[in-house]
Amino acid sequence: SDIEKGTYPHYMLKEIDEQPYVIRNIISKYKTEDETIKLDEDIRQAMLGADRIYIIAAGTSNHAGLVGKQLIERIANKPVEVHIASEFLYNMPIVSEKPLFIFISQSGETADSRGVLVNVKEMGHKALTITNVPGSTLSREADYTLHTYAGPEIAVASTKAYTAQMAVLAILAVDTARAAGIDMNFDPLQELAIVANAMEVLTDQKEKMEQIARDYLSVTRNCFFIGRAADYFVCLEGALKLKEISYIQAEGFAGGELKHGTIALIEEGTPVIGLATQEHVNLSIRGNMKEVVARGASPCMISMEGLNDEDDQLVIPKVHEYLTPLVTVIPLQLLSYYAALHRECDVDKPRNLAKSVTVE
Ligand code: G6P
Repeated sequence: SDIEKGTYPHYMLKEIDEQPYVIRNIISKYKTEDETIKLDEDIRQAMLGADRIYIIAAGTSNHAGLVGKQLIERIANKPVEVHIASEFLYNMPIVSEKPLFIFISQSGETADSRGVLVNVKEMGHKALTITNVPGSTLSREADYTLHTYAGPEIAVASTKAYTAQMAVLAILAVDTARAAGIDMNFDPLQELAIVANAMEVLTDQKEKMEQIARDYLSVTRNCFFIGRAADYFVCLEGALKLKEISYIQAEGFAGGELKHGTIALIEEGTPVIGLATQEHVNLSIRGNMKEVVARGASPCMISMEGLNDEDDQLVIPKVHEYLTPLVTVIPLQLLSYYAALHRECDVDKPRNLAKSVTVE
């Protein structure tokens, strides 16, 4: 590859560290001279004209889509469905009268997503692709493209592409809201700058992340991630990262759902990583953590400044509640990275996986 690792032992670590710069890059690419959002007028109109958005994606990009749904619904007040690309054609929802399909794909080459794109185009619908590779198949075949500007992502486990996708989705949501005349006091460009700084605070704490990974993940066979509201979506991504590169069986769970079955798996010492960044669910997620601790789990609480308890293992800097997923995922990426290292796994090229899956 012509992309160098420089002083980094792995592409994944380099790409984790690049995230603050990627976010700052996105801010500059999506900012006009007078500090408002720069976006193609046809994309704005496509968003405005849609009565419902259908997000289609696979893997980590699907997880970004879940956060994107929440952003678009809360900020722009437009209904959004998120679908797994490989399932969409087999479990097709009733499609609204004026849908807009949004494909999220780092590579722009995922066959499962392309299968859906070809079908919905045949049905006469409009499609927007959010991708890290403009000129890719999904970008060329869609009506519109938004670029995530993350730079080449080499490690198989996606990191910077995910946070970049969510940043672009936040900008898109606000642009749509403003175009629709919705009043709000959320400036995504300013808030993303705060996110970039918070990311940096966390990427500067590698020794601490390595220690947490050593304490919780070096010998365990499984691990659970629990969170509520936006934190739940990050739990899905945190669990996927851990599975992909450390081969630890990991699951992300909505805090309140664990007791409906999965809590049976909690044993003495089972690591449970909890996320607490959303004020309205802070008490309830802490209650869920107590439930697993009472059954022997080893708790690792990652909370946001202002919502933290004294004995939380890690406190992330305060960012806008809409954007916490971009920040909370950083320690989860680093924990996975160090867990994989401690377990002597091939971080950049995990077994059985491909960076881009071009078969259905
Ligand atoms: C593969 C990769 C995943 C990625 C998924 C979707 O399975 O291993 O990391 O999230 O494809 O890729 P895309 O390029 O469409 O975002």
